[in-house]
Amino acid sequence: MVSGKRWIQPRKIKEGLKTEFIGQEINHFAEVTSTNDVAKELARKGAKEGTVVISETQTLGRGRLGRVWVSPQGGMWFSIVLRPRVTPKEASKLTFVAAVAVAQAIREVFGLDAEIKWPNDVLIGGKKVCGILIETSTKDGVVDFVVVGIGINANVSLDSFPESLRNPPTSLKEERMIEIEREGFLRALLEDVERYYTILVRDDFDLILEKWRRLASFLGKYVEVVSFDEKIRGRAVDVDSDGALIVKLTDGRIKKVMTGDVIVER
Ligand code: BTN
Repeated sequence: MVSGKRWIQPRKIKEGLKTEFIGQEINHFAEVTSTNDVAKELARKGAKEGTVVISETQTLGRGRLGRVWVSPQGGMWFSIVLRPRVTPKEASKLTFVAAVAVAQAIREVFGLDAEIKWPNDVLIGGKKVCGILIETSTKDGVVDFVVVGIGINANVSLDSFPESLRNPPTSLKEERMIEIEREGFLRALLEDVERYYTILVRDDFDLILEKWRRLASFLGKYVEVVSFDEKIRGRAVDVDSDGALIVKLTDGRIKKVMTGDVIVER
């Protein structure tokens, strides 16, 4: 088999997997439109909490704010079905759970200094290695299920990405200078997601935020935040208990931002 073209083996992920529910059921595909779409379809049909959908490639991978997510062979493109008993607003906190789990797993498994950038990017050396897309489905005003979509540039060459990307990405292969073993990493990551998810559902978001803050080295720096209708500049001070970014503007006013892109000024 050509190097880098080896497929992920779910059996190897499950070997020694220490979770109660996340990853106990893994659906693996060669190609799908988007693992989030497949996971939603399975969830609607009653898939169990913790079901994972993973694909070698995605033809219509989605990012936040309707962006395209480039998903070539060699990456880790997957989605997890969760059924938390929380309000739809609370469900958005899963972004923090996923970001902490990914950054933590990269640190544990590869010893790389992974950091988090609000709201949901994981970076290495300031370059994006992972994006997270949470999609919530509600029934009668309560959460029916949440799909946590995670895209990690694993054994991906940087020339797979369009040059037009404003922020150049990186990959684990690029940072380690060697191809990584995806199954072992996914096992560690699924265990971390379950650990932090369990903390969230027992209503301890403050503990997640504490871990998130320790991994968010952009806090305290000057940032530009671009959202739909405005662009603001100031110092990123903190995140609040709803997950909003708190920015101290250059004129001293405090502004809370719920959505947007952060550009960290170096
Ligand atoms: C972002 O940074 O904008 C979020 C990117 C999320 C990408 C992942 S890959 C697996 C899952 N399926 C998708 O279509 N998107 C998410």
